[in-house]
Amino acid sequence: MKSNIILGLDIGGTGIKGALVDVETGELVSERVRYKTPFPAYPDAVAEKVQLLVDELNYEGDIIGCGFPAIVIDGVAKSASNIHDSWIGTNVENILARATGKQVIVINDADAAGVAEAYFGSMKSKSGVSMLLTLGTGIGSALLVNGILVPNTEFGHIYLKSQKVVVEKFASNAIRKKEGLSYEEWASRLNKLFKYLDHIFSPNVIVLGGGVSKKFDEYKEYFVDLGFPIQPATLLNQAGLIGAAYFAAQKILAPINQED
Ligand code: BGC
Repeated sequence: MKSNIILGLDIGGTGIKGALVDVETGELVSERVRYKTPFPAYPDAVAEKVQLLVDELNYEGDIIGCGFPAIVIDGVAKSASNIHDSWIGTNVENILARATGKQVIVINDADAAGVAEAYFGSMKSKSGVSMLLTLGTGIGSALLVNGILVPNTEFGHIYLKSQKVVVEKFASNAIRKKEGLSYEEWASRLNKLFKYLDHIFSPNVIVLGGGVSKKFDEYKEYFVDLGFPIQPATLLNQAGLIGAAYFAAQKILAPINQED
């Protein structure tokens, strides 16, 4: 298998998706396979699905890049909001490596989507502060400064004093569906987060990812005008797995700390 083809995975609160990615172009070179995230999402149950996915895609390469819905530092999960708490403190890279027999590099799922959009999508060649928010079971975030990722920002966990709730329990796509919110009602909730982020970071763009980014045209008119664009992820909900594969390639095949 060519070394520019890497398996990208995106483990989310609802689904586990995977596809082979050409990390030079950011394109998928296989079908995309999706399994439901097991419930409860215990480490063993998730690892078993990941292994099935690797088999189904007949992946023969050595490296897997994986987006994971938690704070991830050096491969270790430091939080768990939409997966089982027993992940906290575990080395996700080792767990998935044992299950698949491959080298696995793990990154926060929203950070992965941000990396993909920065290198192949809507934030390409953006200087200054760019943000991506994934609107799914929770709300994930990626912050990039001059194209460099500031990892594990977790803007979905900002506490909205006025609502007495963290923003992902108030404005995620899952909450929109659960509460039967109209797009206008949902957008007015998201606007609170956009205003807050603008106040603190003055971004030059906010990109929205997750499955619902496909329907962007149906709700964009309800967003507040803050003087910078709010736009859908170009790579839609493939961004996470593309970014995870790209990140793994950068880390393993082209380490930035080369000595010369
Ligand atoms: C998690 C984040 C994750 C986001 C999207 C949040 O609940 O805390 O780490 O990026 O969900 O999956």
